[in-house]
Amino acid sequence: MAMTQGGHMLQRPLTTTPDAWVHAVLADFDAFLLDHAACERKASAMAMTFVVRYPDRDAILDPMIRLAKEELGHFHQVFRICQRRGLRFSHDSKDPYVNALLRELRRGRELEFLDRLVMAGVVEARGHERFGRLADALPPGEMKEFYIQITQSEARHSELFFDLAKIYFEDDRVEERVTFFVEREAAALAAIPPRPALH
Ligand SMILES: [Fe+2]
Ligand SMILES: [Fe+2]
Repeated sequence: MAMTQGGHMLQRPLTTTPDAWVHAVLADFDAFLLDHAACERKASAMAMTFVVRYPDRDAILDPMIRLAKEELGHFHQVFRICQRRGLRFSHDSKDPYVNALLRELRRGRELEFLDRLVMAGVVEARGHERFGRLADALPPGEMKEFYIQITQSEARHSELFFDLAKIYFEDDRVEERVTFFVEREAAALAAIPPRPALH
């Protein structure tokens, strides 16, 4: 999938999610919704983590606070969908995908800052790709409309992280890390069998 994001092209496009994932999600949509809700909640917390860790990086603060609110809004929307279906939340399970990517962060304040921004952009890009696959597969109705809207938000988020990275780092350095994380991301996903979860 060639991913265009506000005129930016990921140097190495993400792999395309296999149909087996779409089938796994549709086969247990309730389980998927519970996982999706948790992902939105974690995305909100992740945005606030940038504010806490990098209070001196002025350019990221307002966008990250805004993003945290938007992701929390998504969490609330998915939470309400789950509630209407009578679903029960349980404790978070480990996310092998995110953990695999976190292990790739380099040490050192500057390197880690760059890597965290790029990693977040790649994760958002995957959200965009997978929610898009799901939106295409869902029958016409409220859920399809909801996932079309979510897909559009995730594309904007991905672009935001790459744009912020390019405020603080040379374009070439950012692109080099995008290439790296796109590769690691594909490996992380390939290691997880298709299941009714975002990753
Ligand atoms: Fe979101
Ligand atoms: Fe997002």
